[in-house]
Amino acid sequence: MNEKDFPILKRKINGHNLVYLDNAATTQKPNQVIDSQIDYYKNYNSNVHRGIHQLSEESSKMYHDARQTTADFINAKFNEVVFTAGTTDGINMIANSLKSQLKKGDEIILSEMEHHSNIAPWIKIAKKKKLILKYIPLKDFELDYKKAKDLISEKTKIIAISHISNVLGTINDISKIKTMIKNKNIIFILDAAQSVPHIKIDVKKLDIDFLVFSSHKMCGPTGIGVLYGKEELLDKLEPNQYGGGAVEIVNKDNFTLTESPFKFEAGTPKIAQAIGFASAIKYLNHIGMDKIEKYEHELYEYAHKKIKEIKNITLYAPKKNRSCLISFSIKNIHPHDISEILNQKGIAVRSGNHCAQPLTQAINVNNTTRASFYFYNNKNDVDKLIEGINYAIKILS
Ligand SMILES: Cc1ncc(COP(=O)(O)O)c(C=O)c1O
Repeated sequence: MNEKDFPILKRKINGHNLVYLDNAATTQKPNQVIDSQIDYYKNYNSNVHRGIHQLSEESSKMYHDARQTTADFINAKFNEVVFTAGTTDGINMIANSLKSQLKKGDEIILSEMEHHSNIAPWIKIAKKKKLILKYIPLKDFELDYKKAKDLISEKTKIIAISHISNVLGTINDISKIKTMIKNKNIIFILDAAQSVPHIKIDVKKLDIDFLVFSSHKMCGPTGIGVLYGKEELLDKLEPNQYGGGAVEIVNKDNFTLTESPFKFEAGTPKIAQAIGFASAIKYLNHIGMDKIEKYEHELYEYAHKKIKEIKNITLYAPKKNRSCLISFSIKNIHPHDISEILNQKGIAVRSGNHCAQPLTQAINVNNTTRASFYFYNNKNDVDKLIEGINYAIKILS
């Protein structure tokens, strides 16, 4: 679907046409996104909200519109979308900002399938403030919802989990967790790095307090992402950084803050990235998120059916509720060796612990190979992957 828009997909790697299956790490960019950033730098490069000259007016409008486009994409309000450097930055921001509201003995619930970016910031503040971290265990590569319920107590203040696992592809049932914490004063944070690019997300329907994601995983540029927060929560939240654009009245001893989202974006913002990001969102909207989800689901089922037939393969995937990525290992062959042989055939996959060591510990495996798809992949790519894995097995066994 639409692969012609992606110049990089025409590349040859080791004499073969590139088959790019590392989309969970980062996605490729269509011409529209690349051109929008070039256009900014070539034709209206200027700082925003600072000058009244023509160029600044043009860049300010584009930056403003980029936020509105992003807000509309997840059904948020304009002032509920804070531009961050990405998912990791968003989680660190929220953890540091919530720190002052937490006291010794308060509990934070994460899960065993979290990316390191949704673990390390919480460990850091837990140590500092003597908080207790609890982890929802896994059952058949899904969250164990029964055990999750048992973890919630009077002291639970925050639940922060991923929507889709970057290793297992599991789509977590957010409504189940929401039901467990109904009418409890618990902040619910969703790491949507792997879901916003692939499925339609409506923050109002999901009733999320805070949600984070990255532009580069959805055809947009690196260096920009989103921290969504409910208006009333962002209003109460203290930023981590201060400076120009985030403050209103300043004298030698004091200052007042502006409103959200600007109070969280001190300094010159990510102008070119925001423009590229909005272009990526428009590109996805043009195809339609429903269409993307359906297409990827079919591609996944095709890949899963074929890959599980490979001899001595172990798949790390739930039976249902799964997104478009497959982690696997082959008996007696190191995942890095598989990736290396696939690379010789022009196929890009990832091997390792995928920044999720508590998860690999929980499922008792050191490393896996991961093939992750996006809408510009097709069944031919899957066939090449299967061919490549079989070739690797032949060479390495
Ligand atoms: C589930 C999940 N959370 C967080 C991250 C971190 O995203 P970023 O590196 O864009 O900050 C990733 C990246 O792979 C991820 O898959």
